[in-house]
Amino acid sequence: MTKQLPVVVGVSGASGAQLAERVISRLLAQHVPVELIATPSARIVWRQELEQPWAEQVARWSASGLITEHNPNNQAATVASGSYPVYGMIIVPCSMGTVAALAAGLANNLLLRVADVTQKESRRLVVVPRETPLSTVHLENLLRLAQRGVRIVPPMPNFYQRPTTVAQVVDFVAARALVALGLSPSLDQEQQWQGLELE
Ligand SMILES: Cc1cc2nc3c(=O)[nH]c(=O)nc-3n(C[C@H](O)[C@H](O)[C@H](O)COP(=O)(O)O)c2cc1C
Repeated sequence: MTKQLPVVVGVSGASGAQLAERVISRLLAQHVPVELIATPSARIVWRQELEQPWAEQVARWSASGLITEHNPNNQAATVASGSYPVYGMIIVPCSMGTVAALAAGLANNLLLRVADVTQKESRRLVVVPRETPLSTVHLENLLRLAQRGVRIVPPMPNFYQRPTTVAQVVDFVAARALVALGLSPSLDQEQQWQGLELE
């Protein structure tokens, strides 16, 4: 059996902390090691939207033994090097500030540096951008990323499956993002999808 390479999860300061929570929980449930980088703004949004400190959630995830959290200011972290073996990266949620920095090729925090490395090493990079409405600047930046092969998975609801809770929409987006990353949803996720399907 081949060893599962870690996935880098970048969490930036856009609205949608639940999306990050779902993606990370799902990766851990699938026994995928996670290298975690949260920006300072992500921690603020997390507390505001989920009414709990980021550190408390990280401590809970740590029980899995599969999580390594990195300081976003530490450019000397293992994951900052292209020779450190990882499968790919997902940025969820992705702020327009981070989208702009990615489009410009900036690497002035660890999240951006790892995204830059992910691209130079031709690994999969998925972003889940969150803003509304989108300006032409946002759209131009997203287009530049898409043209470089970055997968863009906006958190758009699965109306056709008639979701009745936010959790169902969050689950759907998280699963779509993991499919874009090349990691299939787990069996129970598939079953949840079935339960939501139109008759
Ligand atoms: C509660 C809250 C919600 C925010 N929601 C968004 C958002 O949905 N999209 C976005 O692009 N920025 C949003 N922002 C602004 C970003 O956090 C801000 O631009 C920040 O500098 C992004 O930095 P980062 O990408 O390094 O995390 C939000 C800020 C706060 C405090």
